[in-house]
Amino acid sequence: MTLRVAVLVSGRGSNLASLLEHIRKGSVQAKVTLVVSDKPGAEALDSARHHGVPAVVTLAPEPDEKSSSYNDRLLAVLRGDKPDLVVLAGYMRILGKAVVDAFPGRVVNIHPSLLPAFKGLRAVQQALDAGVRFAGCSTHLVTADLDGGPIVLQAAVAVKPDDTHETLSRRILRLEHLLLPRTVQLFCEGRVATADGRAIIAPGPSWLQRTDLDLPSGVLYGHGF
Ligand code: GRF
Repeated sequence: MTLRVAVLVSGRGSNLASLLEHIRKGSVQAKVTLVVSDKPGAEALDSARHHGVPAVVTLAPEPDEKSSSYNDRLLAVLRGDKPDLVVLAGYMRILGKAVVDAFPGRVVNIHPSLLPAFKGLRAVQQALDAGVRFAGCSTHLVTADLDGGPIVLQAAVAVKPDDTHETLSRRILRLEHLLLPRTVQLFCEGRVATADGRAIIAPGPSWLQRTDLDLPSGVLYGHGF
């Protein structure tokens, strides 16, 4: 079934662009019906327009606006679109509880760390500072707990001794560009459920067998990929 997906962004939008490309090529059976940016002029908005997303909205907070008021306005925009899934793709605000509760189990975020390690900002730098040997990215269901909801997918790479923030971020971002579309496709296939606070992925086709997706080597693709 073709899912209606609303995507919230704040910046560059490379994850949104990758999702839109996977949809265009047919590897994800979804339609991005709405893109909302809290930042006017975000690059992500250009990407959305370029791909013909029907509703591309800038919803900037008013000066001194309370986050509850902003989230009410956001919720009204989202409700108007009736999405099956809400995706946070580099959305830099905390999503209000009312918004999370309006789409139970249907809000997904992508984060550049192997959660539950290195939540919050500057996750790649946190990983480097901690001297970890593996790093990566995660998609998870959004709950009131920041970056703490049930993990859906993860992929990991080895950290090289000479990795810098730039080199490691680049390798992780390339994985993000697969992990997010893959996660959306799992929702399209109706394969994501939750039980006991964890996300469960039902058996089904994997992307690991796909030769058309240009999967980078040297990557550990976790269960569900
Ligand atoms: C990504 O690293 C994502 O994991 C994080 O914010 C970044 C957004 O990048 N939440 P982009 O805007 O998709 O290029």
